[in-house]
Amino acid sequence: MSLIQEIDFGTPKSKAEKEVTLTIDGRRVSVPEGTSIMRAAMDAGIQVPKLCATDMLDSFGSCRICVVEIAGRNGTPASCTTPAMEGMSVTTQTERLKRIRKGVMELYISDHPLDCLTCAANGDCELQDMAGAVGLREVRYGYDGENHLAKEKDQSNPYFQFDPAKCIVCSRCVRACEEVQGTFALTIEGRGFDSQVSAGMMSDNFFSSECVSCGACVQACPTATLEEKSVIQIGLPEHSVVTTCAYCGVGCSFKAEMRGEELVRMVPYKDGKANRGHSCVKGRFALGYATHKDRILKPMIRATYKDEWREVSWDEALGFAASKIKEIQAKYGRGSVGAISSSRCTNEEVYLVQKLVRAGFGNNNIDTCARVCHSPTGYGLSTAFGTSAGTQDFDSVENSDVILVIGANPTDGHPVFASRMKKRLREGAKLIVIDPRRIDLVRTPHVEAEYHLPLTPGTNVAMMTALAHVIVTEGLMAEEFIRDRCDWEAFQDWATFVSDESRSPEAVAKITGVDPDLVRKAARLYATGGNGAIYYGLGVTEHSQGSTTVMAIANLAMVTGNIGRRGVGVNPLRGQNNVQGACDMGSFPHEFTGYRHVSRDDVRETFESLWKVKIDNEPGLRIPNMFDAAVDGTFKGLYVQGEDILQSDPDTKHVSAGLDALELLIVQDLFLNETANYANVFLPGSSFLEKDGTFTNAERRINRVRKVMSPKSGYADWEITQRLAQEIGMDMNYSHPSEIMDEISKVTPTFANVSYALLEKEGSVQWPCNEEHPEGTPTMHIGEFMRGKGNFVVTEYVATDERTGPRFPLLLTTGRILSQYNVGAQTRRTDNVVWHDQDLLEIHPHDAEMRGVRDGDWVKLDSRAGSTSLRAKLTDRVAVGVVYTTFHHPMTQVNVITTDFSDWATNCPEYKVTAVQISPSNGPTEWQEEYRELTEDSRRIAPILDAAE
Ligand code: FES
Repeated sequence: MSLIQEIDFGTPKSKAEKEVTLTIDGRRVSVPEGTSIMRAAMDAGIQVPKLCATDMLDSFGSCRICVVEIAGRNGTPASCTTPAMEGMSVTTQTERLKRIRKGVMELYISDHPLDCLTCAANGDCELQDMAGAVGLREVRYGYDGENHLAKEKDQSNPYFQFDPAKCIVCSRCVRACEEVQGTFALTIEGRGFDSQVSAGMMSDNFFSSECVSCGACVQACPTATLEEKSVIQIGLPEHSVVTTCAYCGVGCSFKAEMRGEELVRMVPYKDGKANRGHSCVKGRFALGYATHKDRILKPMIRATYKDEWREVSWDEALGFAASKIKEIQAKYGRGSVGAISSSRCTNEEVYLVQKLVRAGFGNNNIDTCARVCHSPTGYGLSTAFGTSAGTQDFDSVENSDVILVIGANPTDGHPVFASRMKKRLREGAKLIVIDPRRIDLVRTPHVEAEYHLPLTPGTNVAMMTALAHVIVTEGLMAEEFIRDRCDWEAFQDWATFVSDESRSPEAVAKITGVDPDLVRKAARLYATGGNGAIYYGLGVTEHSQGSTTVMAIANLAMVTGNIGRRGVGVNPLRGQNNVQGACDMGSFPHEFTGYRHVSRDDVRETFESLWKVKIDNEPGLRIPNMFDAAVDGTFKGLYVQGEDILQSDPDTKHVSAGLDALELLIVQDLFLNETANYANVFLPGSSFLEKDGTFTNAERRINRVRKVMSPKSGYADWEITQRLAQEIGMDMNYSHPSEIMDEISKVTPTFANVSYALLEKEGSVQWPCNEEHPEGTPTMHIGEFMRGKGNFVVTEYVATDERTGPRFPLLLTTGRILSQYNVGAQTRRTDNVVWHDQDLLEIHPHDAEMRGVRDGDWVKLDSRAGSTSLRAKLTDRVAVGVVYTTFHHPMTQVNVITTDFSDWATNCPEYKVTAVQISPSNGPTEWQEEYRELTEDSRRIAPILDAAE
């Protein structure tokens, strides 16, 4: 598995129109002007030896292995930095060149550990390969001169080591950190012989530096200087499988490199269209959870959640679950059971769960965890544009001139896309950040936001409308676009609404808390700065006016004509790997696949004729309604696949009351999660490495998930759902997920052309993918909106009912941290905990001082809903009056204190605004202690009574 074969210089970086033709080793080749000789040689099928060059980085020209001769020119220029010119005649192999290359290689190797030429661990070492390529068999120089061989290894990073003795100071790691990742953590210190790679000026090692462990440096290293510890421990991989990461909505492609059934490492896949060969610390390294000892591998049942678990066979567990479902429906009615599907599972698995509910349970009580994150995106974008999805692909950011980020923290939540965005910003695009907190993007190396509007949590609608006010009243509108593409009457109503003086930045400053002058400048920049792209996240959706803000964002894009071409658009940054897919697959109680309402006779008929059952034409229960109905005694059985609702849903007390009232709770997961404390059936799930299927990322890209190892519990998740369906009497007999996708494409117009064969051919496709767009749709709404005319919606600001006052004077908002993922079930079971082992409460020093709180103190956080305790972190990232925390640790369970307010249109909970008070505390609250005991109790497992299959 040599890196040499993987490097592909086939696609020139420069896309200059003009071509030049030259001769290389007698072969004629034409390339775009500006292409390096090395690239041109690659195009002609000639490999020039190299060390410091790689196609992920700009040419550098430091190693001088790639030298060539050019007819009529003196010297031996480096082919990686010398542009190809018309009529050039280049020679890559001469005795002189061989001598130079061999001499350079000899010098490198002479300052390298003795075992270099034979080092068994370095099967993917380019230095070793190049030594062979230039014919170096032995080194004439001894090791007694000055060298770097005694330098100490840096083992501080949990995932990779840095061995300076093997470093050739080619700068590839430094350049990868700068150009690809955009963190600038590495540098070359010293000069000449003393020059060496260093992890920042102010730090002793990688761990204490600014390094974010994205792995770009390890990937770029041509020797074994930077090497994964897993490779050192397990050995070099023997085979690899290309699959898709199961963390965030970026949907990075990776090569899972294996040794037998053991995963050695995940290597970002260069042909992956979402990540283009980059990765973050989670997808690249945080895989330990997949084989963690906490994984439950045998099905378990118990009479009630207060009893001990009993390991049983699959037959017994599924038989027990199915008979309980039937019993409950017989006793309480058809609508007394339902299911929640997971945005972490594949499209095919999600599709099967909703099919089980609609065709097997005979109701529409199916909801998904997207309910608590991006359901307002569905409502808002469907209303404005006609479909529920981001408008662009990630590549589009390369053509953006102004990037507006609202309610998202890409460097932590979507780090691989954030690197693309930062690159574009370093190239000169302008940035506007609208966020209560000073997120990293506001000021990060070589990037500084033009405007940061630190608004009060809960005031997004007022802010977006104020921006629109400036654009309309100052005549900055794209009038032609509006006339051609949008509903003119709706526009006029909306323009009259936003023009009102009461919606000016000055008038709403008392609501948003933002300097009106900044708002005016930001509006002018977005409207007039060229291609304007909006990216948003849960800081938009998880509000009582989440859907309204999404529509206000759409209004802003339409009024400026920033829709329907590259570089612009409205782009929700989806939180989980398959949240887009879960929504697409008909996981909401009111919609079939492709966002078609259950009341539509024509759509129901499609499914009824295929499934041979009658389908309810009434929407089913949403997640919060399921809990209400459970407490009321009308909802009795719930099947939850891959979702920890007790931790992730709002108002934990109400959720636990609902779960407590159920007669049957089936949890299908990798771990005994917090929800499983209330379960009486546990079905062990499979990790993404153990199944075939597809995920759909934030850019609507359908990517293949490929089975890398056998399911540890015996079944992939789709097989478990199928077996449960069979137990309740359904005729469900898929032999492979590709057959499920074939059914999805048959019943879903936007997926009509999608098949595993097409995905194999194209790598991935973005829906709509049908007769009209046979290879998918990178940019939506070109020429016409999906709904026809773009719809401007009046977005009246309505303050949330959650208000501050004397008892609760501070506003709490929440978010993610780079190293952790959602409720932490996966990442807490990896070495990522070294970066974040507990949730902290960020508080402004002024607010802390008023309450006698010092950095690191335990504080009690009280709201109208409940209280929790955690440690304080003093920082001016948050404004006075605002506090912030992450939600990755169950012992904090920040949702204990969030309220049950929710988005008016979709019930998406208002996680981002909670009025709180803070006081010094001695440690965990009473419930936290009780909770710890309950968790320990409910996880007791009885000795195996029945051999599992
Ligand atoms: Fe061209 Fe290193 S590869 S100088």
